[in-house]
Amino acid sequence: MVEVRAQRASKPVTVRAAAKINLHLGVGRPREDGFHPLDTVYQAISLHDDVTVSAAAEDALTVVGAGYVDVDGVPTDAANIAMRALAEVACGERHHVRIGKQIPVAGGMAGGSADGAAALLAHDRLHDLRQPDDVLLEQAARLGSDVPFSLVGGTARGRGRGEVVEPIEDPGAWWWVVVPSTVGLSTPAVYRHFDAMFPDAPEQPAEPTELLAALASGEPVRLARALHNDLEEPAIDLRPELGTLIERGQAAGALRGTVSGSGPTCVFLCDGREGAMELVAGLSEEYDVVLPAVGPVAGAHVLA
Ligand code: C5P
Repeated sequence: MVEVRAQRASKPVTVRAAAKINLHLGVGRPREDGFHPLDTVYQAISLHDDVTVSAAAEDALTVVGAGYVDVDGVPTDAANIAMRALAEVACGERHHVRIGKQIPVAGGMAGGSADGAAALLAHDRLHDLRQPDDVLLEQAARLGSDVPFSLVGGTARGRGRGEVVEPIEDPGAWWWVVVPSTVGLSTPAVYRHFDAMFPDAPEQPAEPTELLAALASGEPVRLARALHNDLEEPAIDLRPELGTLIERGQAAGALRGTVSGSGPTCVFLCDGREGAMELVAGLSEEYDVVLPAVGPVAGAHVLA
């Protein structure tokens, strides 16, 4: 089996996988396994990581980041999620992996999940396995709660611990401004703080009823009103400067600012591309890294 795959392995495969934001993140009381039940609406946006996987004699990983990405926080050994993904699915083959990162590290934008999803898809194509989607999605769910969505992309509802993903029709082109933080925030720490702040959280997370209606309307003002994130309060409580950033962005013309997932990246919904560019200019006076982005975009896909 190993030899057959090694012979078939062809030229390096590069897969692009997008950052996500949560338009709605309803969080319930922790389950028996410690994970929180979620009812979320993910959207893939136009910040991405590119993961190149090639057949090699030994495993090796290189991580290269855009200027604003702190790659020091990314493990370059077997602990890296891309290497864990390959360890799960490889049958003895070894790989060189190169990750080109645009997605902030520990930023609440599923950057690690994107790399895991990209590695799974790259491995599948490199060895010409062509596994069905449901097999890849199962492998993804074993790696992390957000990894299946990184494969699916677009706009999608996530339930369970986030790994049960159902695509949602989203004909809109929503413009965002993304402001990463220089220091990451640990997702488990934010969930623990949620538990401490909301010991009486309901068993069932809040449903995204308003959000789904707003998406269908295509109106940014309506979507802005419907954005919802149960992790926002705990994230701001841990990092009060995020509250200040959100206020500044809203004062500078954003329709609405919110923490992305568990933070600390903040995202601002804007009135079209022009609104986003104006906000980039406004916030850039005070913040070093201010990035325009549009969503939804595709899930993990092979670059030609
Ligand atoms: O699934 P993933 O590895 O991305 O989760 C990272 C951590 O985030 C978990 O170990 C857990 O502490 C927290 N988490 C959670 N409930 C979820 C998803 C993640 O408590 N639904």
